[in-house]
Order: sequence, then structure tokens, then C-alpha cells
Amino acid sequence: MKNLLAPTFHPFQVIKNDAARSEAELADIIAEPGFGKHFTDHMVDICWSERGGWHRPRVQPYGPISLDPSAAVLHYGQEIFEGLKAYRHADGSIWSFRPEANAARLQRSAVRMALPELPTEYFIESLKQLISVDGRWVPSAPETSLYLRPFMFAKEAFLGVRPANKVNYYLIASPAGPYFSGGIAPLSIWLSTTYARAGKGGTGAAKTGGNYASSLVAQQEAYDHGCAQVLFLDSEEGKYLEELGGMNIVLVKKDGTLVTPQSDSILEGITRDSILQLAEDRGHKVERRRVTIDEWREGAANGDIVEAFACGTAAVVTPIGLIKAEGFEIGSADAVAGELTLSLREELTDIQYGRREDTHGWMTRLDA
Ligand SMILES: Cc1ncc(COP(=O)(O)O)c(C=O)c1O
Repeated sequence: MKNLLAPTFHPFQVIKNDAARSEAELADIIAEPGFGKHFTDHMVDICWSERGGWHRPRVQPYGPISLDPSAAVLHYGQEIFEGLKAYRHADGSIWSFRPEANAARLQRSAVRMALPELPTEYFIESLKQLISVDGRWVPSAPETSLYLRPFMFAKEAFLGVRPANKVNYYLIASPAGPYFSGGIAPLSIWLSTTYARAGKGGTGAAKTGGNYASSLVAQQEAYDHGCAQVLFLDSEEGKYLEELGGMNIVLVKKDGTLVTPQSDSILEGITRDSILQLAEDRGHKVERRRVTIDEWREGAANGDIVEAFACGTAAVVTPIGLIKAEGFEIGSADAVAGELTLSLREELTDIQYGRREDTHGWMTRLDA
């Protein structure tokens, strides 16, 4: 699509929140942040119009967004988002992990959803600007972080099915507690044979709200079967592994090879890419290819596949204990977490929290 970017990088205007939370209120929130429940005092808002490109970047008090009832996003779902975290290191500094990869994925999602591409510099600057006013919201307890949620949607007031010519980008942030309280517990997963997450030529590779909306009924099916997440297969043959509702998957073979689905319709996770890189650095073979559910089932039964894990920004790396499907199961609900799964998880989180050298240059400082 036509993508008129602002020719220059406009400076951010900062409008401080007069009703920012007190230190005592903040301490209460950070003591038990949960996930996605509390939001910081400010947010970023950048406008885009077909004529003006990206303009008027600002940090402003967190609060409701006013929308015309005919705003295109409310009718046709022209929307994309990202998810990444800010980590506090032992010296108090604040860092994010591969934010340029999130910026690039937001751009790929934008192209697919006919939205304008936000330049990487704006994306990274939006993170830094928010941290410059809300840095005190980044928790310091082990395995905690400030979850950053950039998103963009069609704001134009117009009931017509075409790419909107008015769009806004926002960034909000929410403190996040440790995903696992009381040890890393293997997940039970429901294999959906009724619903597909994405199809050939569809939007599966984009991080867009519709993919998640269409996964909810399958996610509910997973809950109804006592499972925490749903695993989707390909939509055409219904036999190739795709991904979970909100995480990628990786299988580990007995010889140490890591196998992960290759597909045009899954979201290319930054966590998965990083974990596979760390495994390769250790000398493990990595196979990115089509994988059938039968290969997993047979491999688990004959001892060829010894570990499986899910990975994504929220939970980092989560062992998979059990896959439940109509008519069969793989693994067991009380399986113990795999050794390689746990050690890769530890290596990645050590890098993210500054406890281990960042040899790949993955960390970006946000507070300086
Ligand atoms: C559908 C889906 N797949 C995979 C992932 C993993 O992506 P990342 O590792 O970049 O968080 C996510 C987001 O966390 C997701 O929503």
C-alpha cells in the first residue's frame, strides 16, 4: 500500500499525568502485579494520516481513547499489535530484548493488514519515551518485568471496506509478575481438530486481533478439557503442527535435535528464534520443517522425542507435559520438565535479566 512516512523524525511531546499513582499505591501494585491488570500512568500516541505520514508523537496520561462509532477498526478489525518486556537489571538499569525484531514484525503485520509501517526508530523511541516517565513501574523482583504492548489500528470514521487513511499507534505498559509462581509446571494442551487458527494466504503470520478472536472458541474448548492452551494444526490437511493460541512449539529429539514447525501461517516468535539460536550455539542441530502430529505421537511413544516446550514472550519457555485430543493422548499431566527445556529457559532469562553476557547484542537499554 501507499506508505507516506514522515520525512523527519518528529520529537515527542510529553504531557505529564497529574494524577500519577503515589509511591505507596505503586508499591501495592508491584507487590502483586498479576498480568495485564494494572497499567502505568502514561501511554504513547502517534498519529498517521495518508497525507501527513507519521506525526504528533506524544507521551500523555494513560486513559480512554475516544473513537467515532464508525471507526474502521470497530467494524473490519484493521488492527495489529506487539508484545515485549522491559527488564530491570541488578544495577537498576532498564533493558528490552530484541526490540528491533518486534519493530520489524510490527512492520510485517502492518503490510499484511494494509496499515502503515511504523519506522523502527519511532518504535524504539516510543519505548524509551514511555520508560523515561514510567520507569519506576519496572519491577525488580525475580522474573518480573514491565510488559510493553504496542498496537495500531484504523481510526478513520468511515464505513467502507478499504484500508483506512487515518491510523494511530499506541504503546501501553503493564507490570507483570512471575509467570510461574511455585516452580515451572508442565502444561497440558488440547489439540483442536475442529478449529483452525489460520489458513493458506490468510493472516496467521501477522499479529492481528482477528487471529486471537478466532482462537477463543478453541481456547475455551481447551479449558473445558482441563488444558491451559490449545494446539492448532494446519487448515488444509489437518495433520501438520502449527502453534498454540499464543506460543510457538518446539520438540526435542533423543539425539538433541530441536524440531519446530515451518509454516507461512504461524506467528514467527522472537523467543523461539532466540532459543533455537542458543541451542545452535551449544552445537544442537535445529530443524525448521513441517512436522505431523503423528510424528510427535509415534516419536513420544518410541522414545525418539523426549521433550516438548512452548515458547513466547509472556511465559518464556514452558514445558509441555500432556497433549490431549479426541481419541488419544501424548505424554502425561504429571510429566517432569525436560532438562534441555529448563536449561535453555535459564540461559535466555539470564541474558534478559543481565545475569549472563549478551553475546548476540540482543539487549537494548531503554533508560539512558
Ligand atoms: C500466536 C502466537 N505465537 C507465538 C508467539 C510467540 O512470539 P514471541 O516469542 O515473539 O512472543 C506469540 C506471542 O507471544 C503468539 O501470540
